[in-house]
Amino acid sequence: KKIVLAYSGGLDTSAIIPWLKENYGAEVVAFAADVGQGDEELEGLHDKAIASGASECYIVDLKEEFVRDYIYPTITTGAVYEGEYLLGTSMARPVIAKAQVEIARKVGADALSHGCTGKGNDQVRFESAFAALAPDLQVIAPWREWEMVSREDLLDYLASRNIATSASATKIYSRDANAWHISHEGGELEDPWQQPSKQVWTMTVDPEDAPDQPEYIQLSFEQGKLVRVNDTTLSPYEALVQLNQLAGVHGVGRIDIVENRLVGMKSRGCYETPGGTVLMKAYKALETMVLDKAAIKYREQLGLEFSHVMYDGRWFTALNDALLAGAASFAQKVTGDIVVKLYKGQATVTQRRSVNSLYSEDFATFGADDVYDQKHAEGFIRLFSLSSRIEALKAQTK
Ligand code: ARG
Ligand code: SIN
Repeated sequence: KKIVLAYSGGLDTSAIIPWLKENYGAEVVAFAADVGQGDEELEGLHDKAIASGASECYIVDLKEEFVRDYIYPTITTGAVYEGEYLLGTSMARPVIAKAQVEIARKVGADALSHGCTGKGNDQVRFESAFAALAPDLQVIAPWREWEMVSREDLLDYLASRNIATSASATKIYSRDANAWHISHEGGELEDPWQQPSKQVWTMTVDPEDAPDQPEYIQLSFEQGKLVRVNDTTLSPYEALVQLNQLAGVHGVGRIDIVENRLVGMKSRGCYETPGGTVLMKAYKALETMVLDKAAIKYREQLGLEFSHVMYDGRWFTALNDALLAGAASFAQKVTGDIVVKLYKGQATVTQRRSVNSLYSEDFATFGADDVYDQKHAEGFIRLFSLSSRIEALKAQTK
């Protein structure tokens, strides 16, 4: 039996390798995805996996694919979960699961495994992707099977198997990082009355300590895709790295929320999405220049729907494809430039222009104009409100 494990090098997945070998009598192939989580997490990963007992370790670079095929399309939908969460962890799961299945096919595996707990969203996201892409493969979720409950348990288990680990018994937060964001859960955050301590945040400067001088950056879009930052042409991933750097310095993109998990419980999380916050603000500002009222309204509904599709791990579904196709159609018009001011934790749009702009100073001006006859508004309002008038007149004659 051969199992491909989504491996991160952390304590949980390090313990899962020997556990799978013992409990399933299987060969374990480690698979790690580079989704832009940073070099510290990836360094020495291969040797670590082998030292834990994996027969092989594949590290796959998914950075450009993740940003181009998952993040950018999601931006065009405008999706924001429960009004705040920019879906960083959710967006990474389908691209990781897809690559994991590809490795499983390549090595001829019979099963897939992951280190998600039985209480969270991530198990649903991974396994929904597995169901859609590899219905024939068995899925093994050790956290739902074994009796271990704490970090001490996992450390004791590894020690009893003579497997060295640099993990410590005290790790305060559960974090998940990629090119778009980092999430923080656990520790004092489990008490929603506790404000996050300074050590929670890792990707952004505290807005209170951010520079006193604002910075202006220009984002240029072509048909919904970010193509240039400050006139430099960049790949999707490079652009995001650049925006993270610029916005992180100014403390942009922190949120602290309580959200509804798919499995029913509420959880408290802090998230840092510096570049993504700027990118989404800029995208929406450009959209408002090029789409009319009815189109914006529909795009908003689409974004709300998509936020749940994304959060709930329903990427490989017909609904997902239909919503993305709709969003891509609107995105055709989203071409132009936006300037964003970064200052003390805020990203504010200050300039916008587009070849497809529907904004017309000739029409909107408060000064004299000769394109819009104000008298036409009277007939419009009479018909627009006609049903109200009919109802009210009827009430008067009763
Ligand atoms: N609550 C967020 C979400 O469901 C973040 C999850 C973080 N996952 C993790 N394995 N630490 O998308
Ligand atoms: C986990 O339970 O593995 C992390 C949190 C989540 O998936 O929501």
